[in-house]
Amino acid sequence: MPGFDTLLPRPVSVSPMPGVCAWPTELDVRIDPNLPPEGYRLEITPSGITLTAADHAGRMHAQQTLRQLAGPDALRAAAIGTRELAVPCGIVEDHPRYRWRGCLLDVARNFRTKAEVLRFIDLLSAHKLNVLHLHLTDDQGWRIEVPAFPKLTEIASWRTGSMVGRHDGPERDGRPHGGFYTTDDLREIVAYATERAITVVPEIDVPGHSRAAIAAYPELGPETETPWEVWTSWGISTSLLDPTPNTLDFFRRVFEHVLTIFPSPVIGIGGDEVPGATPAHGRLVADLATYLATQGRRAVGWDEVLDAGPLPPMVIDAWRDEAAATRAAAAGHDVVLCPEDHFYLDHRQSDHPDEPIPVGYLRTLEDVYRYEPPLDGPLIIGIQAQLWSEHLDTVRRVDYAAFPRLCAIAELAWSPPNRDYAEFLPRLRDHHLPRLDALGVEYRPLDGPHPWQSRPDVPTTAHRPNQLPVTLI
Ligand code: ACM
Repeated sequence: MPGFDTLLPRPVSVSPMPGVCAWPTELDVRIDPNLPPEGYRLEITPSGITLTAADHAGRMHAQQTLRQLAGPDALRAAAIGTRELAVPCGIVEDHPRYRWRGCLLDVARNFRTKAEVLRFIDLLSAHKLNVLHLHLTDDQGWRIEVPAFPKLTEIASWRTGSMVGRHDGPERDGRPHGGFYTTDDLREIVAYATERAITVVPEIDVPGHSRAAIAAYPELGPETETPWEVWTSWGISTSLLDPTPNTLDFFRRVFEHVLTIFPSPVIGIGGDEVPGATPAHGRLVADLATYLATQGRRAVGWDEVLDAGPLPPMVIDAWRDEAAATRAAAAGHDVVLCPEDHFYLDHRQSDHPDEPIPVGYLRTLEDVYRYEPPLDGPLIIGIQAQLWSEHLDTVRRVDYAAFPRLCAIAELAWSPPNRDYAEFLPRLRDHHLPRLDALGVEYRPLDGPHPWQSRPDVPTTAHRPNQLPVTLI
């Protein structure tokens, strides 16, 4: 039976006591709003368990702690009855370090089915993460049904093919790719996440990353000799929205629909990577943020929006550098740290030639675990991992990219900051990876990819020193 020292993320405090309690067992559940938000206290005795939680989230987190204590079999989808399960006696007192513990899932570049998103929510919950940032639109696809604009799903939700590998050459795979979520699918995803104390933050990315929408409704873009198609390339597109009153009105109506689905107090408007941005593009961003404020929501945007001119209070996803986070906080915005050079999990995990698809920075599990947020203070509300999906074309590739580095990020987000990699690594290897096995997660083995996880069809570049960008997406 795993002890308290196997828990991941590590809890704030534990007091082991002799004895065990058979599992599963009836829980005596109490609510104590005096506990810190999302906090919980577990008192485990041989005769039963008292679970005291601050709120619904605290209760969910306590249950995840109990599942971990009962051993990997407690994480299987059904009991297999080969072993009696038990949890150790003692007291656990726990609450998160940050209130925003997020992961972005890019379902625009490569669509993930509803079932895959629901499974991903389970995996976030197992790690006490509480925000799913759903990147729903991009140049390569639009994934949310909007009844007022049917061409967003008829045209913008699929493309004729995809760029092969990471090469910016002419090669395309010729295989149509697409998919979208209906309103009811998204309501189901939100309800499933809410039960697990996870907020789904939708993102509709403007004024760049909008080529799919322009392909469906060309009046959203500038006049072009030939109409734009949904993009079949990776990279940063120069196809921007035309920042006219009509475009603003279109996206206001899109967001009006988004707000009927997502109760999240924070709604994503993108704002990243706008080559050739003009003040009018900035005003479009600011006007949409203001519209959301009039609806009682706050916009979250990537840190480029700080150049958009006056903005209502927002959440800023600081991804480019620490200076962006400092600037956002100085302007009074809440800040989520999403540093590209540490928390972009589509970037490769070793410089081994078998490591699939070299994009961005090289970041090992240890690099990620050792990252300590450079800033603190009330405006730094949390941290967030990113799973951009240009090169994550199956759920198996998402598992490989996400795990186990997302386990390290979960611990950064939840646990007190006195971390020790030499303690973390054996805890992960001996206790947490078996949990991921039981959950059916195809993580990257610590000593490198299985042969079927490598991508010899997309050759890696020569070794480069760590901390240098290998190549841009
Ligand atoms: C981003 O990586 N473009 C936010």
